[in-house]
Amino acid sequence: MSRKPKRLFVCSQCGAQSPQWAGQCAECGAWNSLVEERAAAQGPGALRRAGFAADSGIRALGEVDAVAEARMTSGFAELDRVLGGGLVSGAVVLIGGDPGIGKTTLLTQTLGMLAARGVATLYVTGEESLQQVGLRAQRLGLAAQDMRLLAETEVERILELAAAEGPGVMVIDSVQTMFTTAVPSAPGSVSQVRESAARLVQFAKQTGTTLLLVGHVTKEGTLAGPRILEHMVDTVLYFEGDADSRYRVLRAVKNRFGAVNEMGVFAMLDGGLREVSNPSAIFLSRHERPVSGSAVMVTREGSRPLLVEVQALVAESHAANPRRLAVGLDPNRLAILLAVLQRHCGTVLYDQDVFVNVVGGVRVAETAVDLALALAILSSLRDRPLPEGLVVFGEVGLAGEIRPVQHGQERLREAVQHGFRQALIPRANAPRRPVEGLEIQAVQHITEATGFL
Ligand code: TYD
Ligand code: MG
Repeated sequence: MSRKPKRLFVCSQCGAQSPQWAGQCAECGAWNSLVEERAAAQGPGALRRAGFAADSGIRALGEVDAVAEARMTSGFAELDRVLGGGLVSGAVVLIGGDPGIGKTTLLTQTLGMLAARGVATLYVTGEESLQQVGLRAQRLGLAAQDMRLLAETEVERILELAAAEGPGVMVIDSVQTMFTTAVPSAPGSVSQVRESAARLVQFAKQTGTTLLLVGHVTKEGTLAGPRILEHMVDTVLYFEGDADSRYRVLRAVKNRFGAVNEMGVFAMLDGGLREVSNPSAIFLSRHERPVSGSAVMVTREGSRPLLVEVQALVAESHAANPRRLAVGLDPNRLAILLAVLQRHCGTVLYDQDVFVNVVGGVRVAETAVDLALALAILSSLRDRPLPEGLVVFGEVGLAGEIRPVQHGQERLREAVQHGFRQALIPRANAPRRPVEGLEIQAVQHITEATGFL
């Protein structure tokens, strides 16, 4: 006996399904995200259609040709770095970012460079007309007469033309504008995005085409459309930056072909995006005099060190629940740090709002930021600046102990190179020999570190 649900509601945030409407998604907790869809494309048939494996049949591991996948440079060394060494044939990369951040610019320039090298490329635009793309290419000064363009949003038509064209690299800008005739719901709906993406992914896997998908980002900062999109692709990149800064950061949040902590840095100039191959100190704001609430750390996300400024603002709160806001940092780490400061340093913060931020739209996920963050908070609370030329890094444990971080020597060298004269670091990271030009204070507990204030 087959029971068919008459109605089906799908969460536009996480893709969870439910037979009845609700104000809040039971899976991800998003509000007002359930939309009604026809129950189509479910069951094993749908999975098989979206099947990614090119050849099926069971093999022994030893029989598999484990040849490293061939990489092709994109023309941007910064993009190659984030991808894990370049473009892989048959790989699907999803690039998310706020509107106007430069996704179309990045991919137009990339395809332009590929086309100029003789790679067969196809740029499919569902957002701009061919004239707009042409004008932009002209403004970017692309010498890519051979770059192929298509303004189309129907996936079946795109795949038919792409199959005849045979591009090595194809861009879909953007996946939210695509629709497939196989699904009756409106373009932009969850099942449309999911099915369209599944067809495009299948095409990429079967033909070995490298597929670059542009994805929109919601107000909350996650890729719009079902979370399932992130599971379907090999690599998810985010293109980010401050609205008032010309610097843009490209980060991987998922990568089947490389590490996820690499970071690519670009500058948006009049002539398009330019790579910043030595970004180490561009994210420091230059204060005339030391200001309270600011600490500089050396982060080492990915393969190179980077100096970043951590800022904190602590202000008296009159709300029942004081606010805690972290931009570019993990809010859970902030909560832990505040508890450590309260317990081990006697710092009272329950009646204070605490806002923390990393300058320049950079994100720091590593725990080495803890000590800098703690000092920035204390500095703001006491309204006393940290000394000029001080660099700080170290992980803070729950007992208030300062734990060592990886690549301590390299971080110190980077700081010296940029004119820092003092360093506050974990005891276990202290170099055996003195570092010329750097006064090092190595600490074991958070209470020793507060002596700088
Ligand atoms: P765009 O690539 O259209 O962003 P997205 O596709 O992510 O929405 O970028 C548009 C912004 O970039 C726009 O605000 C203008 C700016 N820009 C430059 O500063 N210089 C340039 O050469 C180009 C092409 C765009
Ligand atoms: Mg665009």
